[in-house]
Amino acid sequence: MKILFVCLGNICRSPLAEGVFRHWADRSGRSGDFEPDSAGTAAYHEGELPDDRSRKIAISHGIRLTHRARQVKGEDFDRFDLILAMDRDNLSHLQFMAPHPGLREKIRLFRDFDPLPGDGEVPDPYYGGLDGFRLVFEMSLRVSQRLLETF
Ligand code: 4NP
Repeated sequence: MKILFVCLGNICRSPLAEGVFRHWADRSGRSGDFEPDSAGTAAYHEGELPDDRSRKIAISHGIRLTHRARQVKGEDFDRFDLILAMDRDNLSHLQFMAPHPGLREKIRLFRDFDPLPGDGEVPDPYYGGLDGFRLVFEMSLRVSQRLLETF
């Protein structure tokens, strides 16, 4: 199953979510069942490694983030089975970008898979401190485990 994690810049939330999911799939002996990737709705940071703060949180849990930022492209909607948006802005961008209306069925909010109740969004931590990144990490952990139970 091919899962694409999507945020705005593809340097903070989505590469962290991808790294956490990859790590847990691996630890569950299920890495062969999944092809995770991440992308951004914007191209501002194309080619960059994840933000230092995402990398710091990840490495403190033994997860090395090596993803290079890229923008979502039309063929992603064919290639991926599930496209997970970090917030509602990302969701509406993705719905707008989908080449065919039928492909919109693949797009969901990431936090639809969070077992804890919330407002459905992963807050953008870019302009804040490390705490925001810790929150993204914790959400990613819960969502990854739920994805592994579901698929
Ligand atoms: P992300 O965070 O969408 O979680 O990667 C952001 C990264 C960069 C910017 C905004 C949010 N930016 O404005 O450059």
